[in-house]
Amino acid sequence: MLLTLPGVLSPEEAAACRKTLLDARWDDGRITAGAQSALVKANLQLPEDAPAARQLGELILERLGRHAAFLAAALPQRVFPPLFNRYEAGMGFGDHIDNAVRIGGQPARRYRTDLSCTLFLSEPEDYDGGELVIDGAGSSSGVKLGAGDLLLYEASTVHRVTPVARGARLAAFFWVQSMVRDRGQRELLFDLDASIRGARAALGDAHPAAVRLTGTYHNLIRMWAEV
Ligand code: NI
Repeated sequence: MLLTLPGVLSPEEAAACRKTLLDARWDDGRITAGAQSALVKANLQLPEDAPAARQLGELILERLGRHAAFLAAALPQRVFPPLFNRYEAGMGFGDHIDNAVRIGGQPARRYRTDLSCTLFLSEPEDYDGGELVIDGAGSSSGVKLGAGDLLLYEASTVHRVTPVARGARLAAFFWVQSMVRDRGQRELLFDLDASIRGARAALGDAHPAAVRLTGTYHNLIRMWAEV
């Protein structure tokens, strides 16, 4: 799954986030990297317990909690408290794969990282480079979204952030533990959900076929979800 979710934050909210992050204290991004990815990681990161990280993270989680496409695609069981990074000129993050299990939050708990999220906070015209490239995504060119837009992709993929050549790239990044662990099942449910919306719009919510299809969706969730 590789999905762009535009407007998770409004441009004004993204601008307010940038303003808050401007005054924050940034650490070396290798604090959360494993031994292997530390070798290729060069960026700055907000400490997890930084007040700005908590405050902005809560805003993002609140928005995602009522974002229909995010909920349908990710089927989140829990979402890792967002982390924040900053790439300045010359910084990048080479090929790596995200850790399968991460510990975070208050109180601390384990999250299985089924899906990775990058929420872009800088406007694309404010920096060169800094593209997110995901192997096997069907395109060799990287992704660079507008401020407030989110990219949702499989955490099982090798990916990288190309070096920033000008300006600075600010983003939030975090992971989703999905109720449905299997990627194929999750994608099938996302397709089915879209089909049901189409059928309901065409036939009406009360049409017997629409009701049965909705039932099938929920019965598949019952079969596959871990809650
Ligand atoms: Ni990564």
